[in-house]
Amino acid sequence: MAILLPGGAGYIGSHTAVELLNSGKDIVIIDNFSNSKPEVLESIKKITGKDFKFYEIDYLDKEKLEKVFEENKIEAVLNFAGFKAVGESVQKPLEYYHNNISGCLVLLETMKKYGVKKFIFSSSATVYGDPEIIPITEECKTGGTTNPYGTTKLFIEQILKDLYKSDNTWDICILRYFNPVGAHESGLIGEEPKGIPNNLMPYVARVAAGILPELSVFGNDYNTPDGTGVRDYIHVVDLAKGHVLALDKLDKEGKGLFIYNLGTGVGYSVLDMVKAFEKATGKEVKYKIAPRRAGDIATCYADPKKAKEELGWTAEKTLEDMCKDSWNYIVKNS
Ligand code: UD1
Repeated sequence: MAILLPGGAGYIGSHTAVELLNSGKDIVIIDNFSNSKPEVLESIKKITGKDFKFYEIDYLDKEKLEKVFEENKIEAVLNFAGFKAVGESVQKPLEYYHNNISGCLVLLETMKKYGVKKFIFSSSATVYGDPEIIPITEECKTGGTTNPYGTTKLFIEQILKDLYKSDNTWDICILRYFNPVGAHESGLIGEEPKGIPNNLMPYVARVAAGILPELSVFGNDYNTPDGTGVRDYIHVVDLAKGHVLALDKLDKEGKGLFIYNLGTGVGYSVLDMVKAFEKATGKEVKYKIAPRRAGDIATCYADPKKAKEELGWTAEKTLEDMCKDSWNYIVKNS
């Protein structure tokens, strides 16, 4: 029996592939390399010393996807094949709705056809919009997403709720990621954003490396301790381990639709991140204060209690680990 990972060569997918293989699971990866590189597959094998099957296909290609289900005994699917660039989603809404929503529908239909009903979905804290309460619990209201990327996450969550309502033999886990950062400590896999990064941590790392001249801090007049935006940054390896525990829960307890926040429960500001990065790496991060970025909120961090109680999961890596591992990846790969 194997776990299928659409998008398993991507940032979160590759780190989860490593943790699944390390925990003794068999995996099958499918990826079309639209936002990843084939070398990642070799790196996963190098880190784990384990082999796995790979298909270069688009998960929207129903015929080819069915072949994967025919050729392998798939027991569960973890979907990492979504597009994730917020700004790009505003420019290309149709591409985002098509890839993220139609792709997920094709996947779910195929799973249904082959009687595979265990599904873990990569959602995001973005589904909370501008949160009413901080720290954010899973019971907080969702909605009010500010871009098509976020709306695809919200819509897919609804699709999964409707699916479970129609047939409660599905086992579904929705994981709401906060801000994933860092890289595997080996420096072999990490985040490889196309072009100039939009997210803070990859941008900071590139400024420190001299690849980009300076960071624009988007607003210092928010209602936060230093005026800059506060987020819950979580090391990607901790996040990956959350998937393994979520799968364990579905395996052992089954039957249900579960939702968990995966965050540390601690908020850091943009300037905290700059200082932490400088301290961890000994490199200067030049920055200037710039206007607020449209769609940004002041503060967002998780209440991770539910994941701790029900999955036995807590984030273990520190902010220093996040900075050091991001830096190590940049140094080894540029
Ligand atoms: C965004 C998305 C989130 C998505 C995440 C990862 C929204 C509202 N948020 O999160 O859904 O899961 O990306 O792809 O859609 N910052 C700067 N300068 C920069 C870049 C960022 O000051 O060059 C600041 C931002 O204003 C923010 C913080 O750094 O306060 C984090 O930004 P970012 O890494 O882009 O993540 P989010 O906006 O929190």
